[in-house]
Amino acid sequence: MEVIVLKNYDEVSKKAFEVMKEVVANKKNAVLGLATGSSPIGLYQNMIKDHQENGTSYADITSFNLDEYVGIDRNHEQSYYTFMHENLFKGIDIKEENVHVPYGDTKADCDAYEKAMEDYSVDIQVLGIGANGHIGFNEPGTPFSETTHIVTLTEKTRQDNARFFENDINQVPTHAITMGIATIMKAKKILLVATGKNKADAVAAMVNKAPDVNCPASVLQNHPDVVVIVDEAAAAKL
Ligand code: F6R
Repeated sequence: MEVIVLKNYDEVSKKAFEVMKEVVANKKNAVLGLATGSSPIGLYQNMIKDHQENGTSYADITSFNLDEYVGIDRNHEQSYYTFMHENLFKGIDIKEENVHVPYGDTKADCDAYEKAMEDYSVDIQVLGIGANGHIGFNEPGTPFSETTHIVTLTEKTRQDNARFFENDINQVPTHAITMGIATIMKAKKILLVATGKNKADAVAAMVNKAPDVNCPASVLQNHPDVVVIVDEAAAAKL
């Protein structure tokens, strides 16, 4: 696991973009695993800028998102499907038919997503990390062997996300569909970005403690190609 510490969100986003650009510049039909949340927005802005200024094309790129809420429509303004279109897809030339965001609430929906991914091999998986160490919506305690599944969101995660739902936790969905940890670990390369002091404990546990289900991100120590890019605040407890 390579850990890169930079000054602030802007520098983290630029560096994350460099890592991403190397993948998409070298493989026209790369497969990207993508995350939502505030951490990768700067990375996505850099991708859009580069597409507009340098013509980097995503026409042959395929994407698979990590997760989605259960119980809200795809077109709900807070769905992850909408998030991805607003924050990345509408600014690049990726084709809608090549975009995959998990959807549904049954085991069959999960298995179908897992199966769709089996036909591809993710070249680079973008991740954020939750304050409790979650990746995707794999909360502490999730077995490392899990594939795509339905989860009950913890109170902490719902509180963290209430800011997107008028600061009202009651509006935050209670369940989500997420790639499992085993699904994430299949990616050839993993790029995790984290900024801010509320991530410092999770980042320290991910990097320094032995892999343990209590910090799902610590599983990344077992992956051969992981780049962690953090700002000084998130690195404070390393
Ligand atoms: C998002 C996701 C989550 C976030 C994590 C950090 O698709 O799977 O694991 O990456 O909750 O969120 P932010 O970046 O908003 O702090």
